[in-house]
Amino acid sequence: MSAPRTALVTGASRGIGLAVAQSLGDRGVRVAMLARDATRLHEAASTIGQRALAIPCDVGHTAELDAALQRVRDGLGDAPDVVVNNAGLFALARVDETEPADFLRALETNLVAAFRVVHAFLPAMRERGGGHLVTIGSIADRFAFPENGAYSASKYGLRGLHEVLRAELAGTGVRATLISPGPVDTPIWDAIDHTRHSGLPTTSRMLGADAVADAVVYAVMQPSSVNVDELRLSRS
Ligand SMILES: NC(=O)c1ccc[n+]([C@@H]2O[C@H](COP(=O)([O-])OP(=O)(O)OC[C@H]3O[C@@H](n4cnc5c(N)ncnc54)[C@H](OP(=O)(O)O)[C@@H]3O)[C@@H](O)[C@H]2O)c1
Repeated sequence: MSAPRTALVTGASRGIGLAVAQSLGDRGVRVAMLARDATRLHEAASTIGQRALAIPCDVGHTAELDAALQRVRDGLGDAPDVVVNNAGLFALARVDETEPADFLRALETNLVAAFRVVHAFLPAMRERGGGHLVTIGSIADRFAFPENGAYSASKYGLRGLHEVLRAELAGTGVRATLISPGPVDTPIWDAIDHTRHSGLPTTSRMLGADAVADAVVYAVMQPSSVNVDELRLSRS
């Protein structure tokens, strides 16, 4: 595949997903953008212009996600050239204080939705012998931190899924990249009460969302013979 022409970015209304969508849009890529808050999503898409397609949806809700992915097909064709599984939630709680429903919600949003998106588009990618599955992992997909039970379970799971995809897709022309940042200065931290949790990074020790977007662009703009397997980003 030469430079991608179409992409799907989940969780694209703010933070890392928006930075990724904008960076791809700047390179002439038509981008389908998913997030729940329709107003904010349309505002985000308007910063990209005609090349953006805003599709409001909760990726953790199966019927909504299926309908949204059909709209992606209607707008971009059988499968986008690039799929960026980015939508995610982050909450802190000790394992014994994590409600089972919250644990499930983290897995559904961060892990199961990514599987469903891959499952929806991979057959068409295999068929045409091209496509790129980008997964936004986290430092917490390889390292354990207190109060990260639900988040880390979902992110370790995402890394496992990515590594199996790499094994299954070798030689097919379909590429897969895991991008795992340390803390990034985005609104995901807004709901975290820093006074109730010790050892959290300050904003000055975080990456910018544009650094993650640059990593995505680097991976997807490689020649088709090159697979960037994994990029791990941290603040220097
Ligand atoms: N920020 C960090 O420190 C950091 C570090 C490493 C990895 N990451 C990962 O990077 C990804 C993006 O994080 P971020 O920091 O950019 O978060 P963010 O600023 O909170 O943005 C999250 C995006 O995902 C959307 N989203 C959340 N839940 C969704 C759902 N159920 N269905 C559809 N869209 C949903 C949000 O829009 P709506 O709320 O409108 O749905 C928003 O567009 C996540 O996977 C996160 O785990 C973040």
